[in-house]
Amino acid sequence: KIIIIDFGSQFTQLIARRVRELNVYCEIHPFNNIPETLSDVKGIIFSGSPYSVRQEDAPQIDLTRFHQKFPVLAVCYGAQYLAQHSGGQVQPSSTREYGRANLNFVQSASKLLKNIDLNSQVWMSHGDTITVVPENFEIIASTDSVNVAGFHVKNSDTYAIQFHPEVTHSTDGKQLLENFLVDICGCSQNWTADAFVETTIAALQEKLGDDKVVLGLSGGVDSSVAAILLHKAIGTNLHCIFVDNGLLRKDEYAAVLEQYKHLGLNIKGIDAKDRFLSQLAGIKDPELKRKAIGRVFIEVFDDAAHEVQDVKWLAQGTIYPDVIESISVKGPSATIKSHHNVGGLPDFMKLKVVEPLNTLFKDEVRRVGKSLGLEAFILGRHPFPGPGLAIRILGDVTEEKVAILQEADAIYINNLKEAGLYDQVWQAGAIFLPVQSVGVMGDERTYENVICLRAVESVDGMTADWCHLPYPVLAKISNEIINKVKGINRVVYDISSKPPATIEWE
Ligand code: XMP
Repeated sequence: KIIIIDFGSQFTQLIARRVRELNVYCEIHPFNNIPETLSDVKGIIFSGSPYSVRQEDAPQIDLTRFHQKFPVLAVCYGAQYLAQHSGGQVQPSSTREYGRANLNFVQSASKLLKNIDLNSQVWMSHGDTITVVPENFEIIASTDSVNVAGFHVKNSDTYAIQFHPEVTHSTDGKQLLENFLVDICGCSQNWTADAFVETTIAALQEKLGDDKVVLGLSGGVDSSVAAILLHKAIGTNLHCIFVDNGLLRKDEYAAVLEQYKHLGLNIKGIDAKDRFLSQLAGIKDPELKRKAIGRVFIEVFDDAAHEVQDVKWLAQGTIYPDVIESISVKGPSATIKSHHNVGGLPDFMKLKVVEPLNTLFKDEVRRVGKSLGLEAFILGRHPFPGPGLAIRILGDVTEEKVAILQEADAIYINNLKEAGLYDQVWQAGAIFLPVQSVGVMGDERTYENVICLRAVESVDGMTADWCHLPYPVLAKISNEIINKVKGINRVVYDISSKPPATIEWE
């Protein structure tokens, strides 16, 4: 495997994704919490950082643990750190070095730069520049404004680059990473979804033996893939619980439950609609809604889990970004919305936790799901928040509002599917706005609520842009909602990006 040492760059996760796209397994570790033993490690990558190496409180590591012991690729801050700590000099840049640049010198014999041509476009993002390199360093790449765009420490497998190979604007970035992984570290590119499935099933069998495991299914991709993996490993010792909180999409509970049964899962469905709705009554604040839903979920789940005799484990569909977030250099980022509302485990359950997907990124979970034979019905679904429609109804939630929103949302989603747009959109949903506006239907004046349509493009939900849905499709959806959904006389479309807006309205 490859270890990526994170100095806090916004691009660190991207490096990991690129390495894995090359079918090499890698892990991110924060610079201040690197594992004691580095067994099976074939190479080390140093990430960039928002810090300057000249800052007093800049992140520090013990270079002697890595340099000359493993192949090293140091990126941006990593490159400057290496240069500065080997006798070179780093100074503030006189010209801005952000954005595209082209290589005007490439040392073609360099192992790192195999198949990378002169003029190749690279992406720079740094405020400092390496001005002096020590004697045993050789410069292997330059651009017009950056002399030391890449260097190699002679007689070693240590390389460094000032630009970011992980961003797609560095056109040969992937080639460079492949050169490092394969030619310099000697990695074999055999980390695939099929291999993951095989080794994970064996590891789960070993870990769980004949123990019983409970898992809460949500209908989403992560919990579904986790369930199938566990099911393949331990069969009916996996007890799945699927709770209807009354806040799912129209007809979704029945359809998803059916699908899970069809997959052979040992699953129990629990209708807890009334319990959730009664606990939500009158609550307007988004965070309080999330808390109420989280609390009721735990109660319902706990009751159901207690019915499974001698259960020892709780399985969760936690994925790698959640893990990285919780161990990251910056610490769990400031809470904007308390997302992890349905995962928490009450202490008195005293179950051990098993998280078979906690090394995977979202797109990898999908690939694993595909390798497990999960159908598009589950794999291709848009993300849907744990608190469901409760956070798509602004203000207090009532059964009537949920019913209206379910109807409008179903019309919206079905039209996206019919128009062949569903798979192009990352996430879509309707929002119920509790404002009334005047309309006219036939000869009658109406005074009813508004439905807002939201559709976004995104990679990971962290940033998003609104989708430019075709006007004829929007027109048809609006018309159908206003004509068919009683209580709605106006439909609007949300044209806000994230940031500064968020995807959900609450
Ligand atoms: P925001 O609204 O923060 O949403 O831009 C980003 C992604 O997270 C989902 N989301 C949630 N998921 N519980 C969840 O499980 C929540 O409370 C929650 N809030 C937002 C949202 O649907 C989007 O995919």
